Amino acid sequence: MTGAPAGGAGPRGPVAPPGLAYAPPVTGTSLVALLDGRLLPATEPLLRPDDAGVVRGDGVFETTLAVDGEPRDLSEHLDRLGRSAAALEVDIPDRTEWSRGVDAVLADRPAGQWSVRLTATRGPDDGPATCFVVRSPVGPRLLAQRQGIGVLALDRGFDGPAVARAPWLLAGAKTLSYATNMAALRWAAAHGADDVVFVGTDGTLLEAPTATVVLARGRSLVTPPPEGILAGITAERLFAAAAAAGWAIARERVTVADLFAADAVWLTSSVRLLAPVTTVDGRALPAGRRAGLTGELAALLDMPAPAAVG
Ligand SMILES: Cc1ncc(COP(=O)(O)O)c(C=O)c1O
Repeated sequence: MTGAPAGGAGPRGPVAPPGLAYAPPVTGTSLVALLDGRLLPATEPLLRPDDAGVVRGDGVFETTLAVDGEPRDLSEHLDRLGRSAAALEVDIPDRTEWSRGVDAVLADRPAGQWSVRLTATRGPDDGPATCFVVRSPVGPRLLAQRQGIGVLALDRGFDGPAVARAPWLLAGAKTLSYATNMAALRWAAAHGADDVVFVGTDGTLLEAPTATVVLARGRSLVTPPPEGILAGITAERLFAAAAAAGWAIARERVTVADLFAADAVWLTSSVRLLAPVTTVDGRALPAGRRAGLTGELAALLDMPAPAAVG
């Protein structure tokens, strides 16, 4: 199959060629499902070249971790997908259909840790949203980052409250327009770091390109205020478990200096889960309580062992 999908556009995006029944690979490669539950090889073309998701990055997505075939926090991810789609005014299928797609890519209950990505583009001008689910292996590099990462503090070019006041900037929606986030990560890699913490024009931290910033200060977990950033599902899950275990939770303005004064700092996100920050701009953070606190928070998050890769 080349070019546009051979089956043309169905009511919910591209349709697989008739009769294509795709057997899932044994391990290690990606797998794609349409929301009717049909599986496609990840190597087959799926989007039309005039799909707004391709030509404008116009669409929304979610990514979560599946452990031994079980997706984590699926309900919360479907909630956020719905909120993002509403912010962009993209008409997406209901959660039952998305769950069918997720079930399809995990139907063989793959052992180990996999990333599951739900994508909805606005679609072509003359068609509906293009929706699909992809399961991919979690690479060893990402898993290794659960042991520690160095970050750079990079300018975001805006401050959180300002973008939160401008709904058309879509702050807080998980859109497909991640090119600047990826550029920031490449900048970090080119300068010897693993990741980035974005600093707003007011000098306070916002978030990482694909993660939430969390600090421990005594028995408090601290994270930047919600304005202008994505509401992290992992951080929310962590805060709920930590609060139940007696931690105080604070959402307050945090500066780079606060990272050095904290007992420990992490980036949290759905696939990597909990990545302890060891250096900021090449300077080591105090390591004294980091390992103990990371173990405590990993248990609160019910984090799977790092080794098993799908
Ligand atoms: C910009 C941004 N902030 C924060 C997060 C962390 O969110 P979650 O824990 O829901 O994965 C992500 C996840 O990809 C993200 O892209």
